[in-house]
Amino acid sequence: MTSPIRYLTGITTTGTPHLGNYVGALRPAVQASRRPGTENFYFLADYHALIKCDDPARMQRSTLEIAACWLATGLDPEAVFFYRQSDIPEITELTWLLTCVTGKGLLNRAHAYKAQLDKNLEAGLDPDQDVTAGLFMYPVLMAADILMFKAHRIPVGRDQVQHIEMARDMASSFNHLYGEHLVLPEAEVDESVAMLPGLDGRKMSKSYDNVIALFAPREQMRRQIFSIVTDSRAPGEPKEAQGSALFQIFQAFASADETQQLLDAYASGIAWSDAKQLLFERIDREIAPMREKYDHLVAHPGELEDILKRGAAKARERATPFMAELRDAVGLRNLARRAAPAKEAKAKAALPQFKQYREADGKFYFKLVDAQGRLLLQSKGFDSPQQAGRRVAELRSTASGPHLGDGMVELAPGIVLTEVSSALQELTDAGN
Ligand code: TRP
Repeated sequence: MTSPIRYLTGITTTGTPHLGNYVGALRPAVQASRRPGTENFYFLADYHALIKCDDPARMQRSTLEIAACWLATGLDPEAVFFYRQSDIPEITELTWLLTCVTGKGLLNRAHAYKAQLDKNLEAGLDPDQDVTAGLFMYPVLMAADILMFKAHRIPVGRDQVQHIEMARDMASSFNHLYGEHLVLPEAEVDESVAMLPGLDGRKMSKSYDNVIALFAPREQMRRQIFSIVTDSRAPGEPKEAQGSALFQIFQAFASADETQQLLDAYASGIAWSDAKQLLFERIDREIAPMREKYDHLVAHPGELEDILKRGAAKARERATPFMAELRDAVGLRNLARRAAPAKEAKAKAALPQFKQYREADGKFYFKLVDAQGRLLLQSKGFDSPQQAGRRVAELRSTASGPHLGDGMVELAPGIVLTEVSSALQELTDAGN
C-alpha cells in the first residue's frame, strides 16, 4: 500500500464568507477532501486571526460562523481532520522550535510584514508602527501548522506561496541540524478555480464591498442578487453574455445545459429582472439545504464544539507523539535517561545551502542562503532543472570567486559579494 498524500488547508477565522469564497475555495476544497489515497487536514487558524482581531466576542463569533460554514458546505469531519488550531498545544510548541532555527532576515522579507513596513515608511511613520511581533512571526506559526502534520501539499492562493517557501526553508534548517524529521511541503496553486465577479462586475471581494453573503437569510440573498449591475437594455432587446457578471455567476452554479438555456434567453431578450430571478433560484437550489444546516449549527454551538473537540483529539493522536520525537531530537529530554554516547548523530554545524525549487511560473530557480537562512543569492528562472543545477555547480567550483556576469543570478539586497564568496568557501571546506 502506498502511503497517502497529505493535504492541509488553514482557514483564518475572520470575516463572513461570500459566494466568491464558496465557489473559489469552500466548494473545491470540500470536493477535494473526498479524493481517494489522500489525507486531508482542514483547520481553523484562530491564532492567526488573533493577530488581526482584538475583540474577544468577534473572535468567538467568527470561529463559530466559519466552522459552521465548512460543515454546512459538506466537509465530513469523520472523513478528514477538522480541528481548531488553538486546541493543539503542540502547534505553539513547534512554533518555538522553528523560531530558533529561523533567521530574522528570512522573516524581514515576508510580504505581509514588508507591506506594513513600506506603508509606514511611505507615510513617514516609525517603521515599526502597528507591527506586532505576531505579524512578524506569522510565517513561523504557519510553518508549524504545516510541519506538525507532515503535510505534503498546501493548496493556496498565489499570495501564500511565499509562506510555504518559508516553511520549506525552516524545515530544511531544522532537518539539517537535527536529522530528517520534518517533511518539506509544497504549495499547490490552482489556476483553474473560478474567479467570481461581484455585484459591480469586479472580482467579488470584501474590500470592494460588492459581495453576496453565502449564508444570509434567503430574502437578503434575493435582494443582493437583484442589485447586480446590468446594462440598460430593455426587455426584448438581446443581451450580451460576454462581460455580464450575472451570467458569469450563473455559470459558476449551473450545468452546461442550464448555461446554454440562459445564453438562449439572453439572445432572445430576457428582461434583466427575469434573469436575476433565474439566477436567484439556481443559487438558492444549491445553497438552501446548506443554509439550513448552517442555521442549525449556529443555533446549536454545543454540537459544533463537540465536533471540534473530537477533531482535536484525532489530530493530537498525530501531533503528540510527533512533538515528543521533536523534543527529543533537539535535546529537551528526561534528564534521568542516559545521554546517548558519542554515537548520537552529532548535530552538524549549520552550513550555507543551495536550494532549488520550481515556481508556479513553471520555471526552475535556486537560491543560496546562509546558515541562518538569510538570502545571499537569488537566481532567475531556468527552463530546466538541469540548467539550474549546472549554474549551481559552476558557482560552487569557481575558486576565483563567484561570477554573476550572466544576469541569471543576483546578489540579494544588502548582500556584498565577499559574503557569497565566504559562504561558498564554507561549503567547499565542509566537503559538500
Ligand atoms: N495564512 C493563511 C491565509 O491567510 C491561513 C493559514 C494559516 C494557512 N495557517 C496555514 C494556510 C497553514 C495553509 C497552511 O489564507
